[in-house]
Amino acid sequence: MSEVAMTTDAPTAADPSVPVLEARDVQRHYQISRGLFKPALTLRAVAGASFTLLPGRTLAVVGESGCGKSTLARMMAMIEPPTAGQLTIDGSKVVGADKETLQQLRPKVQMVFQDPYGSLNPRKQVGRILEEPLEINTDLGAKERADAARVMIAKVGLRPEHYNRYPHMFSGGQRQRIAIARALMLRPKVVIADEPVSALDVSIRAQVLNLLMDLQVEYNLAYLFISHDLSVVRHIADDVMVMYLGRPIEQGSKPAIFARPVHPYTQALLAATPSTDPEARSRRLTVKGELPSPIDPPSGCAFHKRCPFATAECSVERPELRPVAGREVACHHAERVLASG
Ligand SMILES: Nc1ncnc2c1ncn2[C@@H]1O[C@H](COP(=O)(O)OP(=O)(O)O)[C@@H](O)[C@H]1O
Ligand SMILES: [Mg+2]
Repeated sequence: MSEVAMTTDAPTAADPSVPVLEARDVQRHYQISRGLFKPALTLRAVAGASFTLLPGRTLAVVGESGCGKSTLARMMAMIEPPTAGQLTIDGSKVVGADKETLQQLRPKVQMVFQDPYGSLNPRKQVGRILEEPLEINTDLGAKERADAARVMIAKVGLRPEHYNRYPHMFSGGQRQRIAIARALMLRPKVVIADEPVSALDVSIRAQVLNLLMDLQVEYNLAYLFISHDLSVVRHIADDVMVMYLGRPIEQGSKPAIFARPVHPYTQALLAATPSTDPEARSRRLTVKGELPSPIDPPSGCAFHKRCPFATAECSVERPELRPVAGREVACHHAERVLASG
């Protein structure tokens, strides 16, 4: 039996200090055609991101729409290859790996999308949807596949009779439970969740987040959890990476970042989050203007045109991430920003 075929076994205890996902300066560029007689432009959707994800932990990726979160997610889920940089999944290098290695790695990283309806085949019953990954990736027989599907239906809080129902017969929250169940059928080590609760009613978001957290403990899952909504991240994250125009501009532990955001952009994002504490709110900053285009990013610090702390230096030299107050921050004036608040 192949390794991925042992899907009904309990997860093996992973070494908690060995990363299941590691990105080193991963980038993804797109060529944007401008018609026949003009050269194509390069859009750097992800211009360089590095992070480490340990078993059982959650890294939240946050930032405004268009900052590159979904592109990063697709690279991590091996849906698209990086244009540059290194990606390591469960100890194996992805960039430059042969077909066989890639095939072995694929089941280890699964994805949950924002829109569960769009990601579930409307013509298939729930049982079939859950059994399909096992059919493709394992040697399990029909009976074993059906048993595994029924077990997972219970794990995600659905009822036995749901096995025979079609996606349209469920509520949005239930459909996201089905999508989560499907993602876990191959016992992945990493789940990439791209705005998994953003399309759900506020009243059921907490239920689905709690389910994700319960399943994380049960299966020792590592989550790359993508959200534009910091009030959601506050519940689920261990670490946070704040992205702006394709690059992380602040990253570190959730307690550090939520207690004292350093980058002016992180401060503005947090101040715009309804559930922030009153003290953080009193330091309220608002982000002026539109998110610039990643096709033609501003010179120097990509945030300088919207930043109340910007100086001439900021329009010339791009700040690299550096350690400030117990996390990494890409800002020339981090110390001044901290002193001002
Ligand atoms: N396949 C693609 N071709 C060209 N541009 C793309 C493609 N996918 C994403 N982009 C662009 O890359 C940038 C980042 O997009 P995305 O990763 O979807 O951001 P987010 O998920 O944070 O909203 C956007 O400017 C978007 O238009
Ligand atoms: Mg997105």
